Amino acid sequence: MALDIASLRKEYTKEELSIESVNHDPLTQFLSWFDEALAADLPEPTAMVLSSATPDGRPSSRVVLLKSVDDDGFVWYTNYQSRKGAELLSNPHASLLFFWPELERQIRIEGTVTTVSPELSTQYFHSRPFESQVGAAASPQSQVVTSREFLEERFAAVTAANAGRENIDKPEHWGGFKLVPSSIEFWQGRPSRMHDRIRYRKEEVQWVTERLAP
Ligand SMILES: Cc1cc2nc3c(=O)[nH]c(=O)nc-3n(C[C@H](O)[C@H](O)[C@H](O)COP(=O)(O)O)c2cc1C
Repeated sequence: MALDIASLRKEYTKEELSIESVNHDPLTQFLSWFDEALAADLPEPTAMVLSSATPDGRPSSRVVLLKSVDDDGFVWYTNYQSRKGAELLSNPHASLLFFWPELERQIRIEGTVTTVSPELSTQYFHSRPFESQVGAAASPQSQVVTSREFLEERFAAVTAANAGRENIDKPEHWGGFKLVPSSIEFWQGRPSRMHDRIRYRKEEVQWVTERLAP
Protein backbone atom coordinates (compact mmCIF):
# COMPACT_ATOMS: atom_id res chain seq x y z
CA MET A 1 0.00 0.00 0.00
CA ALA A 2 1.38 3.42 -0.92
CA LEU A 3 2.18 5.63 2.06
CA ASP A 4 -0.01 8.74 2.05
CA ILE A 5 2.80 11.24 2.51
CA ALA A 6 0.60 14.18 1.52
CA SER A 7 -1.28 13.82 4.81
CA LEU A 8 1.84 13.97 7.01
CA ARG A 9 1.74 17.29 8.82
CA LYS A 10 3.57 18.95 11.68
CA GLU A 11 2.82 22.15 13.54
CA TYR A 12 5.81 24.36 14.45
CA THR A 13 5.45 25.99 17.84
CA LYS A 14 8.86 26.33 19.50
CA GLU A 15 10.16 29.88 18.92
CA GLU A 16 9.60 33.25 17.26
CA LEU A 17 11.84 35.49 15.20
CA SER A 18 11.57 39.22 14.48
CA ILE A 19 13.74 41.98 13.02
CA GLU A 20 13.86 43.48 16.53
CA SER A 21 15.05 40.25 18.16
CA VAL A 22 17.83 39.27 15.72
CA ASN A 23 21.39 40.58 15.92
CA HIS A 24 22.19 43.33 13.37
CA ASP A 25 25.12 41.22 12.14
CA PRO A 26 24.11 37.96 10.39
CA LEU A 27 27.34 36.12 11.27
CA THR A 28 26.72 36.88 14.95
CA GLN A 29 23.11 35.76 14.55
CA PHE A 30 24.35 32.57 12.86
CA LEU A 31 26.75 31.86 15.72
CA SER A 32 23.98 32.37 18.25
CA TRP A 33 21.74 29.81 16.45
CA PHE A 34 24.72 27.53 15.95
CA ASP A 35 25.47 27.59 19.70
CA GLU A 36 21.85 26.63 20.34
CA ALA A 37 22.16 23.77 17.81
CA LEU A 38 25.27 22.52 19.65
CA ALA A 39 23.56 22.85 23.03
CA ALA A 40 20.54 20.91 21.72
CA ASP A 41 22.82 17.95 20.99
CA LEU A 42 21.65 17.59 17.39
CA PRO A 43 23.07 14.53 15.59
CA GLU A 44 25.01 16.50 12.92
CA PRO A 45 24.82 20.23 13.72
CA THR A 46 27.69 21.08 11.34
CA ALA A 47 26.19 19.22 8.36
CA MET A 48 25.08 21.59 5.61
CA VAL A 49 23.82 21.16 2.07
CA LEU A 50 26.23 22.78 -0.37
CA SER A 51 24.81 23.62 -3.78
CA SER A 52 27.12 24.46 -6.64
CA ALA A 53 26.46 24.85 -10.36
CA THR A 54 28.23 24.47 -13.66
CA PRO A 55 29.09 27.67 -15.57
CA ASP A 56 25.88 27.20 -17.60
CA GLY A 57 23.81 26.96 -14.41
CA ARG A 58 23.15 23.24 -13.88
CA PRO A 59 22.94 22.82 -10.09
CA SER A 60 24.04 19.94 -7.85
CA SER A 61 23.86 19.49 -4.07
CA ARG A 62 25.52 17.38 -1.40
CA VAL A 63 26.19 17.49 2.34
CA VAL A 64 29.54 18.77 3.67
CA LEU A 65 30.67 19.66 7.18
CA LEU A 66 31.17 23.24 8.35
CA LYS A 67 34.69 23.49 9.79
CA SER A 68 34.95 27.16 10.71
CA VAL A 69 33.12 30.46 10.60
CA ASP A 70 34.90 33.77 10.73
CA ASP A 71 34.03 37.44 10.16
CA ASP A 72 33.62 37.00 6.45
CA GLY A 73 32.55 33.45 5.72
CA PHE A 74 31.86 29.74 6.14
CA VAL A 75 34.62 27.14 5.55
CA TRP A 76 34.56 23.45 4.58
CA TYR A 77 37.15 21.08 3.16
CA THR A 78 37.08 18.82 0.15
CA ASN A 79 38.82 17.54 -2.98
CA TYR A 80 39.28 20.35 -5.53
CA GLN A 81 39.07 17.76 -8.35
CA SER A 82 35.70 16.41 -7.18
CA ARG A 83 32.50 17.32 -8.98
CA LYS A 84 31.76 20.11 -6.49
CA GLY A 85 35.40 21.24 -6.58
CA ALA A 86 35.37 21.57 -10.35
CA GLU A 87 32.01 23.37 -10.30
CA LEU A 88 33.05 25.82 -7.58
CA LEU A 89 36.37 26.59 -9.28
CA SER A 90 34.62 27.33 -12.58
CA ASN A 91 31.55 29.10 -11.12
CA PRO A 92 32.00 30.69 -7.66
CA HIS A 93 28.26 31.22 -7.01
CA ALA A 94 27.08 28.76 -4.37
CA SER A 95 24.68 28.26 -1.48
CA LEU A 96 24.72 26.53 1.89
CA LEU A 97 21.70 25.26 3.79
CA PHE A 98 21.30 24.09 7.37
CA PHE A 99 18.12 22.28 8.42
CA TRP A 100 17.72 21.67 12.14
CA PRO A 101 14.30 19.99 12.44
CA GLU A 102 14.57 19.54 16.21
CA LEU A 103 14.72 23.35 16.52
CA GLU A 104 12.25 23.94 13.65
CA ARG A 105 14.92 26.03 11.94
CA GLN A 106 16.43 26.47 8.50
CA ILE A 107 19.28 28.79 7.47
CA ARG A 108 19.89 29.62 3.80
CA ILE A 109 23.19 31.22 2.85
CA GLU A 110 24.12 32.45 -0.64
CA GLY A 111 27.33 34.00 -1.87
CA THR A 112 30.59 33.49 -3.66
CA VAL A 113 33.32 31.00 -2.93
CA THR A 114 37.09 31.39 -2.69
CA THR A 115 39.74 28.79 -1.83
CA VAL A 116 41.33 28.71 1.61
CA SER A 117 45.13 29.20 1.64
CA PRO A 118 47.25 26.01 1.24
CA GLU A 119 48.83 26.78 4.65
CA LEU A 120 45.47 26.83 6.44
CA SER A 121 44.30 23.76 4.49
CA THR A 122 47.46 21.88 5.53
CA GLN A 123 46.94 22.92 9.15
CA TYR A 124 43.40 21.51 9.08
CA PHE A 125 44.45 18.40 7.08
CA HIS A 126 47.02 17.53 9.74
CA SER A 127 44.47 18.00 12.52
CA ARG A 128 42.47 15.07 11.08
CA PRO A 129 43.08 11.48 12.20
CA PHE A 130 45.85 9.71 10.21
CA GLU A 131 43.33 7.34 8.57
CA SER A 132 41.19 10.27 7.38
CA GLN A 133 44.28 11.89 5.85
CA VAL A 134 45.02 8.61 4.05
CA GLY A 135 41.42 8.28 2.90
CA ALA A 136 41.42 11.80 1.46
CA ALA A 137 44.70 11.18 -0.37
CA ALA A 138 43.66 7.74 -1.64
CA SER A 139 40.22 8.61 -2.97
CA PRO A 140 39.84 10.13 -6.46
CA GLN A 141 36.62 11.73 -5.22
CA SER A 142 33.70 11.73 -7.69
CA GLN A 143 35.51 9.56 -10.27
CA VAL A 144 33.98 6.28 -11.46
CA VAL A 145 36.00 3.39 -9.98
CA THR A 146 35.95 -0.27 -10.93
CA SER A 147 35.38 -1.69 -7.44
CA ARG A 148 35.61 -1.27 -3.68
CA GLU A 149 38.83 -3.34 -3.85
CA PHE A 150 40.42 -0.68 -6.10
CA LEU A 151 39.82 1.89 -3.35
CA GLU A 152 41.07 -0.42 -0.60
CA GLU A 153 44.27 -1.13 -2.52
CA ARG A 154 44.87 2.59 -2.90
CA PHE A 155 44.22 3.10 0.81
CA ALA A 156 46.71 0.33 1.65
CA ALA A 157 49.32 1.75 -0.75
CA VAL A 158 49.09 5.28 0.72
CA THR A 159 49.23 3.83 4.25
CA ALA A 160 52.35 1.77 3.38
CA ALA A 161 54.05 4.73 1.68
CA ASN A 162 53.59 6.76 4.88
CA ALA A 163 54.42 4.08 7.45
CA GLY A 164 55.90 5.52 10.64
CA ARG A 165 54.84 9.08 9.87
CA GLU A 166 52.50 11.04 12.09
CA ASN A 167 50.99 13.00 9.18
CA ILE A 168 51.03 12.55 5.44
CA ASP A 169 51.61 15.35 2.92
CA LYS A 170 48.40 17.15 2.03
CA PRO A 171 47.57 16.43 -1.61
CA GLU A 172 47.71 19.62 -3.69
CA HIS A 173 44.17 18.97 -4.92
CA TRP A 174 42.72 18.91 -1.40
CA GLY A 175 41.79 21.98 0.66
CA GLY A 176 39.20 24.39 1.92
CA PHE A 177 36.61 26.58 0.33
CA LYS A 178 35.14 29.66 2.00
CA LEU A 179 31.70 30.99 1.08
CA VAL A 180 31.47 34.75 1.63
CA PRO A 181 27.75 35.47 2.01
CA SER A 182 25.74 38.10 0.15
CA SER A 183 22.48 36.88 1.70
CA ILE A 184 21.55 34.88 4.82
CA GLU A 185 17.98 33.91 5.72
CA PHE A 186 16.88 32.59 9.11
CA TRP A 187 13.65 30.58 9.08
CA GLN A 188 11.77 29.70 12.23
CA GLY A 189 8.74 27.42 11.98
CA ARG A 190 5.49 28.89 13.37
CA PRO A 191 1.93 27.58 13.73
CA SER A 192 -0.47 27.49 10.76
CA ARG A 193 2.38 27.81 8.21
CA MET A 194 2.82 31.48 9.27
CA HIS A 195 6.55 30.97 9.64
CA ASP A 196 9.04 33.73 10.51
CA ARG A 197 11.63 34.51 7.84
CA ILE A 198 14.27 37.17 8.40
CA ARG A 199 16.71 37.80 5.56
CA TYR A 200 19.96 39.79 5.63
CA ARG A 201 20.97 41.10 2.22
CA LYS A 202 24.32 42.78 1.54
CA GLU A 203 23.89 46.20 -0.09
CA GLU A 204 27.32 47.67 -0.88
CA VAL A 205 29.02 47.26 2.52
CA GLN A 206 25.85 47.28 4.64
CA TRP A 207 23.52 44.48 5.68
CA VAL A 208 19.82 45.20 5.06
CA THR A 209 17.42 43.17 7.22
CA GLU A 210 13.98 42.30 5.86
CA ARG A 211 11.04 40.08 6.80
CA LEU A 212 9.88 37.73 4.05
CA ALA A 213 6.45 36.16 3.71
CA PRO A 214 6.40 32.46 4.52
C1 LIG B 1 27.14 13.97 6.98
C2 LIG B 1 28.02 14.08 5.75
C3 LIG B 1 29.16 14.86 5.82
C4 LIG B 1 29.99 15.00 4.70
N1 LIG B 1 31.06 15.85 4.77
C5 LIG B 1 31.83 16.04 3.66
C6 LIG B 1 32.88 17.02 3.67
O1 LIG B 1 33.09 17.76 4.65
N2 LIG B 1 33.64 17.14 2.56
C7 LIG B 1 33.43 16.37 1.45
O2 LIG B 1 34.17 16.52 0.47
N3 LIG B 1 32.41 15.47 1.39
C8 LIG B 1 31.61 15.28 2.48
N4 LIG B 1 30.57 14.39 2.43
C9 LIG B 1 30.35 13.62 1.18
C10 LIG B 1 29.61 14.49 0.16
O3 LIG B 1 28.24 14.59 0.51
C11 LIG B 1 29.74 13.93 -1.27
O4 LIG B 1 29.31 12.59 -1.33
C12 LIG B 1 31.19 14.00 -1.78
O5 LIG B 1 31.86 15.16 -1.33
C13 LIG B 1 31.23 13.97 -3.31
O6 LIG B 1 30.45 15.02 -3.82
P1 LIG B 1 30.63 15.57 -5.33
O7 LIG B 1 30.78 14.34 -6.20
O8 LIG B 1 29.39 16.34 -5.64
O9 LIG B 1 31.87 16.42 -5.36
C14 LIG B 1 29.70 14.28 3.52
C15 LIG B 1 28.52 13.50 3.45
C16 LIG B 1 27.69 13.41 4.55
C17 LIG B 1 26.41 12.62 4.44
